[in-house]
Amino acid sequence: MKYTALILLCSWLGHTTVQAAENDNVLDELVFCLVCHGYQAQGNPSVGAPALVGIEDWYLRAALAAYRGGTRAGYAAAMDMQAAARMLPEDDFAKVLRLLNELPLREPQAAVVVDAALLEKGRENYAQFCASCHGADGEGNQILAAPGLRRLNDWYLQAAWESYLTGGRGNDSADGASQMAQVALALPDSFDIDAVVVFLTASE
Ligand code: HEC
Ligand code: HEC
Repeated sequence: MKYTALILLCSWLGHTTVQAAENDNVLDELVFCLVCHGYQAQGNPSVGAPALVGIEDWYLRAALAAYRGGTRAGYAAAMDMQAAARMLPEDDFAKVLRLLNELPLREPQAAVVVDAALLEKGRENYAQFCASCHGADGEGNQILAAPGLRRLNDWYLQAAWESYLTGGRGNDSADGASQMAQVALALPDSFDIDAVVVFLTASE
C-alpha cells in the first residue's frame, strides 16, 4: 500500500492527474490533504500547513473536530483548514490516519542556525514552562490533550505560537486550546520562544 500510494502520488505530482483506483476514495482523500500539507505530509510553509507524519491519532481527531466545530478559527491558516476539515467525512478519519502513518517519518528540518547558547536556553525554558504538559522531551501527553511537538516544523511552531498570542486560537473554547493560550499569555520576559523552537527542532 505504501508504495502504491507513493507511486500514485508521484504520478499525480508529475502529471497533475490523480491516477487513484476508482474505488479508492481514501487515497483521493489523502491526495487532497497532501496538496496543502506537502507530498509526503512533511509540511508546506508556502500555505502554512504543518507536517502531519507522526501525528497522534487522538490529536488528529481533536484538531479536525475543532476546525469542523469552529472553535479553531479566527486566523487565516485556520480558515483554510476549516474548509478542508468540513469536506472530510468523519468515517474516513481512521483511514486517513493509517495512510499518513505509511508515509516515511522524517525529522523536521530546522531552518535556524543552531547556536549552542540559544539551544541551552531553549532546553531550560522548555523544561521550566512546557514539559509539564508536553512531556520531558516534547513527546506529548494525551491525558492533558497536549500534542507531541517534535514532529512540527520550526516555522509552524512559531506560527502556532503566534496564533495563541494574537490569532485568537483558544480564546473562545473551554478545551485544551484555551489552557494553551493562557500559558502563552502568562509567560515571564525570561521566556524565549525562538530558543524553545531551536531546542525542539535541532538535531543533536
Ligand atoms: C487548503 C489547504 C489544506 C488542505 C486541503 C488540508 N489542510 Fe490541513 N491544514 C492546513 C493549514 C494551513 C493548517 C494550519 C492551520 C492552523 O494553523 O491552525 C492545517 C492544519 C491541519 C491540522 C492541525 C495540525 C496541528 O498540528 O495542529 C491537521 C490535523 C490537518 N491540517 C489535517 C488535514 C487533513 C487530514 C487533510 C485532508 C483531509 C487536510 N489537513 C487538508 C491546510 C490544509
Ligand atoms: C497546561 C498545559 C500546557 C503547557 C504548560 C504548555 N502547553 Fe502547549 N499545548 C497544550 C495543549 C492542551 C495543547 C493543544 C491545544 C490546541 O488544541 O490548540 C497545546 C498546543 C501547543 C502547540 C500547538 C501544536 C500544534 O500542533 O498546533 C504548541 C506549538 C505548543 N502547545 C507549545 C507550547 C510551548 C512552547 C510551551 C511552553 C511555553 C507549552 N506549549 C506549554 C498544553 C500546554
